[in-house]
Amino acid sequence: MRPRLAVNVDHIATIRQARGGAEPDPVAAAMLAEVAGASGVIVHLREDRRHIQDRDVRLLREVVKTHLNLEMAATDEMVKMALEVLPDVATLVPERRQELTTEGGLDVGGQEERAAEVVRVLTEGGIKVSLFIDPVPEQVEASKRTGAQIVELHTGTYADARTETDRQAALLKIMEAARLGRGLGLRIAAGHGLNYQNVGPVAVIPEVEELNIGHSIVARATLVSIDRAVREMLDLIHAAR
Ligand code: PXP
Repeated sequence: MRPRLAVNVDHIATIRQARGGAEPDPVAAAMLAEVAGASGVIVHLREDRRHIQDRDVRLLREVVKTHLNLEMAATDEMVKMALEVLPDVATLVPERRQELTTEGGLDVGGQEERAAEVVRVLTEGGIKVSLFIDPVPEQVEASKRTGAQIVELHTGTYADARTETDRQAALLKIMEAARLGRGLGLRIAAGHGLNYQNVGPVAVIPEVEELNIGHSIVARATLVSIDRAVREMLDLIHAAR
């Protein structure tokens, strides 16, 4: 089965927030991404509300026809928001105020009890839970123990590798983590730093069901339209597998 493409529209909101106005609207962008063939829409509601706002999440819940994935820190505030909005999937991510983007995976092993509690509350609320983790066996195994259904493997090290040797080593870790996770009965997604040049080898991994891509698609969309940016990414994913 081909991996699905879910598009993160945070940075449409980043452009809007640059002027503090109403345009461009990430809700409109999400609808256009769906029309172009995206299978899901992702937003990260950050504690500091630097891009996506509460209003966006609520409106997206109304209009998204595929599936809505809410990335969130495992805080009481965000759990409350998720239970109110009811996204199809909640992805738990680590969050640091000063970071430009999510820098590493969630240390599930280091906070297993808290993670398991949040997974339980969200799951009982009818939301599937995904944990965004580094592709290392300990994190995959800890994720399974929390009761989460999905793990999203962090592809940042792969995407940022400066040499081919490092890139291949990072890819191998993603492949091994995907195989381990699937073997444990987890569903596997992958994302972070994927772009038109590097998506192929990750799309090929048979266990990967979904690719979560934001910055590169939004960056291209500012030049060639969301429709074309999404379709071109889909073409690459489909050509790979
Ligand atoms: N997955 C997760 C959990 C993320 O936090 C992000 C970044 O918001 C992405 C995927 C998408 O990363 P990028 O914008 O680099 O494509």
